[in-house]
Formats: sequence, structure tokens, C-alpha cells
Amino acid sequence: MNSNPIIIAVDGYSSSGKSTMARDLAARIGYIYVDSGAMYRAVTLYALRHGMATPEGNLDAEALNAALPDISISFSPAGADGRQHTLLNGEDVEKEIRSMEVSGMVSPVAALPEVRHRLTELQREFGRRRGIVMDGRDIGTTVFPDAEMKVFVNASPEVRAKRRVLELRAKGENVNFEEVLDNIRERDHIDTTRKESPLVQAADAHVLDNDSMTIPQQMDWLLNLYNSIK
Ligand code: DC
Repeated sequence: MNSNPIIIAVDGYSSSGKSTMARDLAARIGYIYVDSGAMYRAVTLYALRHGMATPEGNLDAEALNAALPDISISFSPAGADGRQHTLLNGEDVEKEIRSMEVSGMVSPVAALPEVRHRLTELQREFGRRRGIVMDGRDIGTTVFPDAEMKVFVNASPEVRAKRRVLELRAKGENVNFEEVLDNIRERDHIDTTRKESPLVQAADAHVLDNDSMTIPQQMDWLLNLYNSIK
């Protein structure tokens, strides 16, 4: 039993629902939630806006590495929608970082070692006071290898693409299923095969297979695990 606040790492594939579950879990147990993917997305948006990355897939890694000291990422407190928003150099970019354009370039950006080092440092800083739920790809393996609770979320590419299409359409983006499925497969490939901190399941992670689980069932599963560790 552990009466002090702990660190909870939630890793898994794109659109596996891990951000929603991590955010809900944090709210439920009074922890801070940090979406590490949003940080990679914000760096990608910066690169796109400054011509260091193009929607056609070109990436000027040298220019982006040199610009890293000029990129500041933070989160606003939860707003009227109950969610915290991602801030890029103080500007609320929560909507822009979820676009298909950013999704299409974020994996190559997240594969750059300098970008990863910079964001890993920042993520560790967020976790200094513990009592945090952070979701991403390498949280339980690289960012917080000593996290007391590690969850690895699994779901099939088709189920994830379906969820993502619904999410994007609800936001008014006109996307088709095949395009989203391709993007998910492509990101899975880059995320799992990159040299630096690839997406792998930590040996001590608890696997949550959520293809056919409802959101309340997931929450019960997470709370049971949390209570057994805490
Ligand atoms: O969780 P997401 O789809 O918003 O993440 C966006 C991208 O960022 C994803 O393609 C992989 C990358 N990422 C990463 O490499 N490491 C993390 N800790 C979080 C995200």
C-alpha cells in the first residue's frame, strides 16, 4: 500500500482511447493529467507554421532542432469544456494540433532525438510533484520507468480508425475512413520502429485490451488497478 501520490503512465497506440481514459482517471482520483502527445503535436504545429515541415512530408530536422529553445509548451487550466488546452508559446492551439495536417507529420517529428529529449525533460518536470497521470508512447519505459502504475492500451487499427473518424467528424472535419486508417497504420509503424524510445510495452505494464469494452468498464478496470496499487 502506498499512501503518497503516485505516477501513473498510460501508453498505447494512436487513438486507442488512452487520452480519454487517462483524463477521466485523473479527474476521478484528483490527479493532474498531462497529454504528452499534445506536446509532440504542438512542436509539429510550430514546424508546419515555420516551414520546417510541409504537409507533403518534408521535414527540416536541423532547423527544427535549432528552434527548440524558442518553443514553449504549457497547458491552461481546464476551461468551460472541462479540458485543459495546450498552449504553444502562450497561444491556445488545442484545436489546430488535432488537425489531419498535424496528425500526418507528428510521427516523423516525434522520431527526432532532440525533440524527444527536450519534451522528456519537460514531462519529467511536470511529474516532479507526483500525483500525475500522463499518457503517451514511452511514459512507462523512458519518461517514468519507475512509475508505480503502468497501463498499456491495445485496440485494433480498425476500431481505432472508427473512433477517430467519429471524433474528427464531430469537430466538423471532413475525413474518410480509409484515409484515417492509413494514417493510423502509418503512425503505428513509425512509432513502433523508430530508434529513439519506440512504442513498446513495459515489462511491468498492465495490458488493457479495450476493443470491446465500454468507457465505464474501462474506468472500473483502471480504478481496481489503482486501488490495488495505492
Ligand atoms: O497520442 P497522440 O496521437 O496525440 O500522439 C501524437 C504523436 O506523438 C504520435 O504519433 C506519437 C507521438 N508521441 C510520442 O512519440 N511519444 C509520446 N510520449 C506521445 C506521443
